[in-house]
Amino acid sequence: MTPLRVGLTYNLKRIDARRDDAEAEYDSPKTVAALAAAIAAHGHRVVRLEANARLPVRLARAGVDLVFNLAEGGLGRSREAHVPALCELLGIPYTGSDPAALCVTLDKALGKRVLRDGGVPTPDFLVCDTGREPLPRGWRFPAIVKPNLEGTSKGITGASVVDDEAALRRRCRAMIRRYRQSALVERYVTGREFTLGVVGWPRPAAFPPMEVVFLRAGARTVYDYSLKQDWVGKVEYVCPARIPQRLDAEMRRLALDSFRLFGCRDVARVDFRVDERGRPWVIELNPLPGLTPDYSDIVLNAAAVGIGYEELIGRILAGGLRRRALTTPARPRRAARAPAG
Ligand SMILES: Nc1ncnc2c1ncn2[C@@H]1O[C@H](COP(=O)(O)OP(=O)(O)O)[C@@H](O)[C@H]1O
Ligand SMILES: [Mg+2]
Repeated sequence: MTPLRVGLTYNLKRIDARRDDAEAEYDSPKTVAALAAAIAAHGHRVVRLEANARLPVRLARAGVDLVFNLAEGGLGRSREAHVPALCELLGIPYTGSDPAALCVTLDKALGKRVLRDGGVPTPDFLVCDTGREPLPRGWRFPAIVKPNLEGTSKGITGASVVDDEAALRRRCRAMIRRYRQSALVERYVTGREFTLGVVGWPRPAAFPPMEVVFLRAGARTVYDYSLKQDWVGKVEYVCPARIPQRLDAEMRRLALDSFRLFGCRDVARVDFRVDERGRPWVIELNPLPGLTPDYSDIVLNAAAVGIGYEELIGRILAGGLRRRALTTPARPRRAARAPAG
């Protein structure tokens, strides 16, 4: 195989996420280097492209055959779509989901409407722009309040789970003020937490569910911001999860259904809660999951089933390469020589 030039697009974390969550979703130089090495291990030349305001010009001139996209983007609810949209404008094939899937999933409420419409169970919810909105009839507590357009559990702490209307409104106002966006209020699903990766294109496959076990279990566990920053000794990842075969199969099916509903490609991670009656609920789908070696959930999920980092990256890359092959015109064949005689 001739080596390709693969552009690696990313946003670099410069602010310490333990002190300030402004760049929590961005990647460290170490993650970018590991990803570049994994792509190179598949025989390609890697061109690093930080996804800042200079990217449009640099990408246009980079002469890359494919982009491996890890960029979370800057501002706004379309931020994750910026790089894929740019690739489409420039006619460069890229890994991962397209702008539409990235936009709809980043807006948690919008994503939940798609899931609900597609028959995927997701907790009841309400969007608050002011915190004064009336609660739907028959609303039941506890509830969890989160910023509607964030990830990496930004804004989520133990105080996000609320038991009454006054606390709900207080938390909504705090989230709206702090993150300058709507707050999403969801019914809190008491029970175990699972996450699983879906990888591949055009035929995606689901990994077995991985349980996120909270070692300091309380009644109201949440995989909150501080736990995601510092999980050693506080969270254990069990994969394959010790669950009945029926539940394993159901979560994989729901993950694949969700993946298809958004039209995702190559990779996504789907987060679940399973209630006390054993029913799985999809909390959200992440089409740009973190890919930090030995740390990110999907990397641990893959490792538990014998898929190492390089292979995981190779499987994501494969979808992009496949689409590239479908869109790149084959080199013109040399004219056949006229048969002798
Ligand atoms: N409806 C819910 N019921 C129970 N826990 C929830 C619910 N929504 C979120 N959580 C907890 O908060 C965490 C982060 O929420 P999530 O919606 O996945 O946001 P993020 O995009 O920041 O990962 C989840 O992993 C889970 O522990
Ligand atoms: Mg999540």
